[in-house]
Amino acid sequence: MSIWKRKSIDLLLAEAADSEKGLKRTLTAWTLVALGIGAIIGAGLFVRTAAAAANSAGPSVTIGFIVAAIGCALAGLCYAELSSSIPIAGSAYTYTYATMGEFLAWIIGWDLILEYAVGAATVGIAWSEYLNNLLVNVFHVSPIPYEWCHSPFQTSADGVSGIINLPALFIVGALSLLLIRGTQESAFVNGIIVVLKVAIVILIIIIGWQFINPVNHAEYIPKSTIYTDKSGLDHHFGGIPGILGAAGTVFFAFIGFDAVSTAAQETKNPKRDMPIGILGSLAVCTVLYILFAHVLTGVATVEDFRGEGGEASVAYAIQKYMVGYEWLGQFVTVAILAGFSSVILVMLLGQSRVFYSMGNDGLLPKVFSEVHPKYKTPYKANMIIFVIVGLFAAFVPGDIVGDMTSIGTLFAFILVCISVIVLRKTNPDMKREFKTPLVPFVPILGVGVCLAMVYGLGWPNWLRLFAWMAIGVVIYFGYSKKNSKLNNGQQ
Ligand code: ALA
Repeated sequence: MSIWKRKSIDLLLAEAADSEKGLKRTLTAWTLVALGIGAIIGAGLFVRTAAAAANSAGPSVTIGFIVAAIGCALAGLCYAELSSSIPIAGSAYTYTYATMGEFLAWIIGWDLILEYAVGAATVGIAWSEYLNNLLVNVFHVSPIPYEWCHSPFQTSADGVSGIINLPALFIVGALSLLLIRGTQESAFVNGIIVVLKVAIVILIIIIGWQFINPVNHAEYIPKSTIYTDKSGLDHHFGGIPGILGAAGTVFFAFIGFDAVSTAAQETKNPKRDMPIGILGSLAVCTVLYILFAHVLTGVATVEDFRGEGGEASVAYAIQKYMVGYEWLGQFVTVAILAGFSSVILVMLLGQSRVFYSMGNDGLLPKVFSEVHPKYKTPYKANMIIFVIVGLFAAFVPGDIVGDMTSIGTLFAFILVCISVIVLRKTNPDMKREFKTPLVPFVPILGVGVCLAMVYGLGWPNWLRLFAWMAIGVVIYFGYSKKNSKLNNGQQ
């Protein structure tokens, strides 16, 4: 039994062709671009931008967005090659199984939990922030008491301690139910929300531009110092370290374009549609993000984002500085709540498809790959994911889960870039509908830029990633290796 045993590409393709008993193929290129944008624009833009400006970079968070976009574009080119030639549910997990063997595939599958499940929890927490904003500023009623919408590790300015984040738990549960009903229905709801979300970003850019206060942009790249936040954590603020830290934080805003590749098995024409879906959604979002961050840091100050404006930051900036546009603040709050829901939906979808593949391979128990007889969705996986995501959403602060998501995803991107190089050597003749240009230059550069962002996220996050991976290794040797179908000659 070797932990380096690889799944053959032919076997993977045969599995995909066997779609009778598997998932339905219903998605097209445009539903994929919509799915991508649905997953991409969310808490990263509407919550993490302000956190990055406050803790790391001030207005130069825009440069952080550029660094993150470069890393994503390079990794995206690698994703596009892999997903157009291996159109199977499971994303980076499946690619790694075919290229670098079972153990590394497990590692990446385990790591993807950080991206999808912990990512969904992060957005759930951000949803909870904006829900309070909706209650106060749109419905003019009292907010949910602090202790019921914050984790036990958070304390309010007047000393109230959080207990559980109930709204975050609620939204994750509601969307898990929607997913169990079926992907096609979910993609339709998602399409409506995407339009709303893009419209709101464009509106804020256009209207907010007139409210940019040049004083806020006077020191565009702040001088390098150490900033200690309310919970006593030190951050590199300003200069190049600040920009890299900001890039690592706002990298979260790009997460999701790769989730498109997890839906490959449900795509009608994956070879043509996957590259369009992945790169198209990434391009649209990059332009919007840079403009949006420029406006947001021009309208409100870094001090705002370090204080009260740290929660529901966009609505806060509009309400405080854009006099006469209260309606925009209210509209934004509603649109953001809907927008976050679509992000959570796609992340939950991505997670269930990764678990589905791992369950099929025997690396996880069979319940993860059981498909509902009527809805054709891996409904049991969805329920287990709800429990995992719910725990993170209810009991961990948003900043921590946000950065854990970023570092976990960066690690996955690095392995995907390496996979492209390895696969070109081990399977040179494989049919590749889309080819990553300039191999190995593009993948190597992708690894370099992602590593720079990992560096920027700082040692507490390196430690969290390491601890998470250590748990994964124990499970692999304790369960997965013994139950792997490939290792037991069942595949
Ligand atoms: N990119 C997604 C977001 O920003 C995860 O919410």
